[in-house]
Amino acid sequence: ELTPDPSSGTRLTPDPSSGTHLNSHQSRDTGNWTFNHTLANLIRKDILRFLDPVRDLSILRGAVSPGDTVHYVLDRHSSTHISDTLYRLLPSAPPLRRLHHHSCAIVGNSGILLDSRCGPEIDRHDFVIRCNLAPVEEFSADVGSRTDLVTMNPSVVQRAFGDLQTEEWRRRFTHRLKALGDGVLWVPAFMAKGGEERVEWALQLIQEQGLEVRTAVPSLRLLHAVRGYWLTKHVPIKRPSTGLFMYTLATRFCSQLHLYGFWPFPRDPRGAPVKYHYYDRLTYQYTSSSSPHTMPLEYRTLRTLHGQGALRLHTGPCE
Ligand code: CTP
Repeated sequence: ELTPDPSSGTRLTPDPSSGTHLNSHQSRDTGNWTFNHTLANLIRKDILRFLDPVRDLSILRGAVSPGDTVHYVLDRHSSTHISDTLYRLLPSAPPLRRLHHHSCAIVGNSGILLDSRCGPEIDRHDFVIRCNLAPVEEFSADVGSRTDLVTMNPSVVQRAFGDLQTEEWRRRFTHRLKALGDGVLWVPAFMAKGGEERVEWALQLIQEQGLEVRTAVPSLRLLHAVRGYWLTKHVPIKRPSTGLFMYTLATRFCSQLHLYGFWPFPRDPRGAPVKYHYYDRLTYQYTSSSSPHTMPLEYRTLRTLHGQGALRLHTGPCE
């Protein structure tokens, strides 16, 4: 059983040259927890040495042409093409350019959110990021309802929207996207092979329906840059999870980052079972070496950053 002990967390050994040392502003996970703005600023600058979140958030229309060949980032031997639909839906300017928010929420999908009553608190942040089009309507008391940016792995089209094969699935997908208004839909279309048709079906629907949502497709260099940054912090991550991508990017746009729904463990601190996702029956081999992610390692890293005041991890109830 994996119940994390915060004190045994992976030490984030800051690179001495980057100056991300703990200092007198160091915060602890106690009632008087405070943000360590000095550290958050240092982390932001440090990340900027590896990637530019404004630019890497999305490939721009001007940088590609329909029909261009794209090699998948994780499967370099396989390639696909920039379809006409994708080309038309790419942004012409970086979607979050010139944006800066005081406080942002990144909502992960762990079942730890169930019965948390965190919805109103999450919705009060200036910018809310969610993962994989997780449903909100039926869970708003616990997860909130507003969304400014949401990710969508290609597999979501199959897992949560029946591959858009029937009218009913298309209706549900459209309904979910309409709720985003002109928020950003972030689709890592070129990370790993597979799912190319799924992305195409989803984008075609967005186009046909004339939905307001703004599509973004991460740059081809983002994954290696994110992995590279964390490696220099001695956090060897095979394949960063969506949540870690969002944290790494959001450091650029947000002064204070609050993370909810990050709990990649089968039990809560009291030993009660926790669902992998708050909204479905998916299970996850937390400790399996064949799993693409190393979420427990990521979690310990985030926990360390929480302890240092760089971000705030919310894992308990909100009221
Ligand atoms: N998450 C977590 N604990 C869980 C489930 C999710 O901490 N039990 C966090 C992770 O950071 C994860 C994010 O919430 O990336 C969104 O969850 P999910 O949609 O499952 O993430 P993916 O990383 O996209 O996973 P997969 O590649 O398996 O779809």
